[in-house]
Amino acid sequence: MANDDYDPTAPAVMADPFAAYAEMRANCPVHRFEGLENPFYTLFRYDDVRAAQMNPAVWSSRYGSGPSYMKSIGLFADGPAHAEFRNIFKPRLSPGALLQREDEIREIATGLVDAMLARGSSADLHDALALPLPVTVIARFLGVPDADLDQLKDWSDRLTELGFGQNAQAYLETYAGVCGFFDQYLDAREATLANAGVSEASSEHVGALLPDDWISDAVCASYQGRRLRRDEQHIILMGLLVGGNETTTSLLTNCVWRLLERPERWAAVKANPDELVETALEETLRCDPPTLGMFRTSLEAVEARGVEIPAKSKLMLCYGAANHDPEIFENPDEYRLDRSKDELRKHMAFGVGPHTCPGAPLSRLEARIALRLLIERLDNPRLDGPTQRIGAYNFWGRKSLPIAWG
Ligand code: HEM
Repeated sequence: MANDDYDPTAPAVMADPFAAYAEMRANCPVHRFEGLENPFYTLFRYDDVRAAQMNPAVWSSRYGSGPSYMKSIGLFADGPAHAEFRNIFKPRLSPGALLQREDEIREIATGLVDAMLARGSSADLHDALALPLPVTVIARFLGVPDADLDQLKDWSDRLTELGFGQNAQAYLETYAGVCGFFDQYLDAREATLANAGVSEASSEHVGALLPDDWISDAVCASYQGRRLRRDEQHIILMGLLVGGNETTTSLLTNCVWRLLERPERWAAVKANPDELVETALEETLRCDPPTLGMFRTSLEAVEARGVEIPAKSKLMLCYGAANHDPEIFENPDEYRLDRSKDELRKHMAFGVGPHTCPGAPLSRLEARIALRLLIERLDNPRLDGPTQRIGAYNFWGRKSLPIAWG
């Protein structure tokens, strides 16, 4: 591929981004793409992607994590303000807090697997398990009732599809719709406080006057010595909704896809689940990362591998390319269950540095529970027809994964 031909949205690259990344890593490790509304640069080499994430003084998140220039708000920030904002919702994602919810998550996953098996001997794993599991879990964490789950997933899908520069107007309209969706819950919580005579919400009201969830956190949190504004409440809930759904769905579909592609892989994991369930998930995160790339913006003119990048340029950190860098991973395009833990630990599927994914422990937990259930319950599983890729160029997962068993 000539360097000028690289287009992350081109059908061939969408179908197999890793082949294109290999060429770019070798021949054009810093690339400028002009095919979408805002031009952006891309870093393809592991060391470059890592170094940029660790250098927020130059590569800032102040203008958002996508290719459009966003207002600096909430997580779209650097330094202490960003860290303080993260801490509003992060406690519910800590390993200790998750331990308390493990049974609840297992119950949701078990219900979905039971229903799938009861329906016959084939299913689309995406629709039956990989999609509803994280949506249901995130809805519970947010505090959105099960009755509104379909609506929630629909919003989440639309935000993910539209969020990365392919249709800015449609994204803004969708964003406004999701804000309206969350407003009904935020308004209700604020009304509860007002009716109880509370003039100043505080974290003490979470789990007391208000339910113990992220919507209440958004209403009651203190940030920079004040309550959150409504636009900050929106951004926090939106980040958790989009961050937690499609990505975890993709981790599960990509993993089952890779294991069933070669039945001996499935058999190996089944024979030794205590060791290999985790390895299979980590190797999936490395080989098929659900998030292929996120964005930063240069605060000053900067040179990267001889390329002059002006100030205020958008940059895609290509985690997908970094995870296949042969300088770091042996035979990087091969999905292997015998990689060492040391090697696997280096993958960048969750990013590194100050914006590293706070939801990593939750998605790992959900995927581990789901994969173990499938390994235990599916008799002779196999792929049952073509799979389909999800639509956004910087995400990687199956939107359809037909399987059969028995
Ligand atoms: C397999 C599943 C997941 C993958 C692959 C993934 C991937 C990522 C990556 C690569 C980033 C870094 C973005 C950057 O560098 O700017 C990130 C950030 C983030 N993720 Fe995840 N994520 C996953 C699951 C989750 C879950 C379950 C949640 C929430 C419940 C979540 C919420 C977030 C949030 C809020 C951020 C922004 C953090 C910040 O800017 O400080 N993610 N995720």
